[in-house]
Amino acid sequence: ELGPYSHFMQKEIHEQPKALSDTIEAILDDGFSAELFGAAAANVLPTLSGVKILACGTSYYAGLTAKYWIESIAGVVCDVEIASEYRYRDAFADPQHLVVTISQSGETLDTMEALKYAKSLGHRHALSICNVRESAIPRASDLVFYTRAGAEIGVASTKAFTTQLVSLFALAVTLGKVRGRVTAEQEAQYLAELRHLPGSVQHALNLEPQITAWSAQFAAKNDALFLGRGLHYPIALEGALKLKEISYIHAEAYPAGELKHGPLALVDENMPVVVIAPNDALLEKVKSNMQEVRARGGELFVFADADSHFSDSDGVHVIRTPRHVGVLSPIVHSIPVQLLAYHVALTRGTDVDKPRNLAKSVTVE
Ligand code: M6R
Repeated sequence: ELGPYSHFMQKEIHEQPKALSDTIEAILDDGFSAELFGAAAANVLPTLSGVKILACGTSYYAGLTAKYWIESIAGVVCDVEIASEYRYRDAFADPQHLVVTISQSGETLDTMEALKYAKSLGHRHALSICNVRESAIPRASDLVFYTRAGAEIGVASTKAFTTQLVSLFALAVTLGKVRGRVTAEQEAQYLAELRHLPGSVQHALNLEPQITAWSAQFAAKNDALFLGRGLHYPIALEGALKLKEISYIHAEAYPAGELKHGPLALVDENMPVVVIAPNDALLEKVKSNMQEVRARGGELFVFADADSHFSDSDGVHVIRTPRHVGVLSPIVHSIPVQLLAYHVALTRGTDVDKPRNLAKSVTVE
């Protein structure tokens, strides 16, 4: 079943070009149409006035990324909340805000209960982004988009995450289109970007030997800090979660602009700092944040793209993806942080597919 791979996690990381191709197949065939999200979506999507995303863990980070896309591409207000928090608070509910749950398993109890609670508060419509057909959460939702990642066995979510991301991107563009904000020309451009995505992800996978070469330096440390800004901040969060989950190294993520407001005090030569730094509008800001780290002796491990114009220097190590892929860049940059966590865990000899204390599907509170 594992083929040439040592673990399900490694296999699932490498399955991402295929998982993404399968998930976007219908979009490439028919464009960004409301029907992708269920028969009722053509009536629902044009009328909604906001989006409320509810999820846990890695799925929550997919939601955080989606907020950037939904607000900028669709021009619709979007808020994202951890399901286990939302379900126990007196939340404000606008009936016209679409509830979007994100869950690989479709069985996560907190996400399910948050969905029921949202409905009890009066939210009219709920969309489930899910990887397991006919599981509890899609069954309780009137709109559904199934990611087509295939079975995910490793406890650490990888291909489910990137397929969730691409589905949420499709939701953002579709919403923008039905609201007249995305033009036909822009739609064609987004389709072209989607078409190139599996190839760009494959290029990122090809970086594995370079990433493996970094793993010993992380495996020898007790902590790591992950930094990103904008669309890449949630990818920093995901990188930190992957590392702690399977290598048991304490890792935190911050939006790089927050460094001065506290976490910079942690930085010294014992704190490796991973930076997600592709060539986007915030790159110059990220570069100055990196100087702040370097000035305190922190060693930098930078995931950049060819257009970021970084090179290795003292205490600064750089791995580059071949080209900048625009708004889909967070999907491509998920790959190196997954591979880093995997190889650090291998070096430390942990049980990669079944990390201690964790279950694949969290059906209890
Ligand atoms: O099945 P779900 O997507 O609802 O699961 C949510 C989280 O339990 C899950 O993403 C968890 O954080 C992963 N183990 C992270 O790799």
